[in-house]
Amino acid sequence: ASNNSMVPYKSIFCGVVHPGKIFIIQGFLNPGGNRFHVDLQNAADVALHFNPRYNSGGYIVHNSRLNGVWGNEENKAPTPFPRGHLFTLQILITLSSYKVIHSRHRMPLTHVDKICMAGMVRPSLIAFQYLEVRKIYT
Ligand code: GAL
Repeated sequence: ASNNSMVPYKSIFCGVVHPGKIFIIQGFLNPGGNRFHVDLQNAADVALHFNPRYNSGGYIVHNSRLNGVWGNEENKAPTPFPRGHLFTLQILITLSSYKVIHSRHRMPLTHVDKICMAGMVRPSLIAFQYLEVRKIYT
């Protein structure tokens, strides 16, 4: 397969999407690939098309597609996902928007064992969730 060949399409049903739901998506980016995308869909309609591209210096296209018609692209630069590496993406569903969370790891994950809140704040809650992993692609 060439560097730009698309992976076989992977999709799973994710159940009803409530505010507060967080999707975590991981994949290994082809070292010479020109794009990839993660879509939230209903049948052929695409509610969120999250599409990092690697031409023109790299940028991320956000879009939607209703009844076969793409909407207006929102382009955001730069893309934070280096090719040839594993990427992790989180999509948080809120009442008003999809929040796509990506922050590059700057130290090994296994190093992290503490969460800290400080400054001019009265802490009220610190919580964490475990994931229900639906499928691991090997
Ligand atoms: C098109 C492309 C689609 C999708 C869309 C987003 O040009 O063929 O795969 O990325 O842009 O606007």
